[in-house]
Amino acid sequence: MSKTFYVTTPIYYVNDVPHIGHAYTTVAADVIARFRRLVGDRVFFLTGTDEHGQKIERVALASGEKPIELADRVVLRFKGLWEKLNIQNDDFIRTTEERHKKAVLELFRRVNSRGDIYLGEYEDWYCVFDETFWTETQLGGSRTCPDCGRPVERLKEESYFFRLSKYEKPLLEFYENNPDFVQPSFRKNEVVSFVRGGLRDLSISRTSFSWGIPIPDKPKHVIYVWFDALTNYITAAGFPEDTGRLEEIWPADIHLVGKDILRFHAVYWPAFLISAGLTPPRKVFAHGWWTVEGEKMSKSKGNVVDPYAVVDEFGADALRYFLLREVPFGLDGDFSRSALIGRINGDLANGLGNLVSRSLGLIEKYFQGKIPSPSSLEPIDARIQEKALVTSEQVEEAMNEVAFHKALGAIWDFIAFVNKYVDESAPWALGKSGNKERLGSVLWTLVESIRVIAILIYPFMPKSAETIWNKIGFPEPIESQSFTKAKEWGVVKSGWLIEKGAGLFPRLDDK
Ligand code: MSP
Repeated sequence: MSKTFYVTTPIYYVNDVPHIGHAYTTVAADVIARFRRLVGDRVFFLTGTDEHGQKIERVALASGEKPIELADRVVLRFKGLWEKLNIQNDDFIRTTEERHKKAVLELFRRVNSRGDIYLGEYEDWYCVFDETFWTETQLGGSRTCPDCGRPVERLKEESYFFRLSKYEKPLLEFYENNPDFVQPSFRKNEVVSFVRGGLRDLSISRTSFSWGIPIPDKPKHVIYVWFDALTNYITAAGFPEDTGRLEEIWPADIHLVGKDILRFHAVYWPAFLISAGLTPPRKVFAHGWWTVEGEKMSKSKGNVVDPYAVVDEFGADALRYFLLREVPFGLDGDFSRSALIGRINGDLANGLGNLVSRSLGLIEKYFQGKIPSPSSLEPIDARIQEKALVTSEQVEEAMNEVAFHKALGAIWDFIAFVNKYVDESAPWALGKSGNKERLGSVLWTLVESIRVIAILIYPFMPKSAETIWNKIGFPEPIESQSFTKAKEWGVVKSGWLIEKGAGLFPRLDDK
């Protein structure tokens, strides 16, 4: 039996409600999961929340709640958003769950039994906000956190350490043997030079706060946030239960992360796993960050984009499309209202929506809504068929490279090509002149193209794909289709009833 395809998002902190950056990774993971299902893989898609740590303890305290009350409240905002965005995750993990506590303590025990954990004392500059220690040389001007710019504080405490330094060589070997482990490739160089620069042992427990998983017999110590958080990926895969589930799911095929947390996933995480005798994940893909209207998104600027509001105004599919089309996955991008509206009007309304409505409108007008038969095909129709096949292959290749923008680019090239075909074959003129045979063949070719497009856009825009599917009267649900169907031609049958119905994407006023 082939291995289940396992895709993850980071688990999100519950000290704040979700923003557009969180939606980004989760949508990307959902698109990968839907695509793999379409290709025929068994898929396990995990997302969840990171609920322990000092930051969460502090925010809870400030709002007069217990940390778990804060987590219980905020987790609903995440779950609600995933529903609104039509995210089909197979599991949702919270680090406060019992199954996770068990997994973390077992990982700790295994790593410890390898002699990789010792008790020491930790002192360094600490950024409370990022929960990260920094060395003197890493600090920004006037002793600030190099990541967030906030002042750091000197912190010294008894701590358990993980012998990360011991894993310098094994990690470099691992990168060497798995050249595609870190993606995009320019990020790989960053990771390798970080490890080559020398690894310090890593503090993995804290005594300065108590909101975390306590170490047995050392109740002053709770497990430090990254050892706790990263373990989520194996918890949900069944670790440490011996049921065969872990073997079926692990290693993860791809961890999607933001560029800021790449180091934790590409250095610490494989080191923990190698130490515990487990296999590291197959791939870590680091995406870029969104600015908003050209500025860094921040609470103090008040420009944090609320994905709930965007979905309410523009719809889930428009947001899903925009996020993955606008920027090559891996690079930074800018989220702006006018760019979003531009995509909706240009690509969705004028491109896709227009193709569907004029094709189906003509079938209603000239064939009483019944798909006509392709009795008079010409070379120009064969060109559409060829282009459909090439497009499907391009999409498949792009998806294997995690290049969403390329996949969408190829699909929209095809849409433009088919729209041009409509103009060139002038079905209105054929209708007026009574050339029903040729008109029928053109319209049949259009419905067939629309069928292929619906399958290709399904991972990205599942609701729109389903709506189109229903409009063309396809008897089985779109979920039951496989990707190979996009490479076939001649699937729609004459005589099926179509329904033009309402427009897919109303044009918007950019005000
Ligand atoms: N809890 C940790 C992850 C643990 S994974 C074992 C965490 N959580 S987070 O909620 O702060 O961030 C989650 C993700 O959001 C990160 O991948 C981060 O890169 C991403 N983003 C935060 N702001 C972002 C943008 N402005 N743009 C794109 N992604 C952004 O880190």
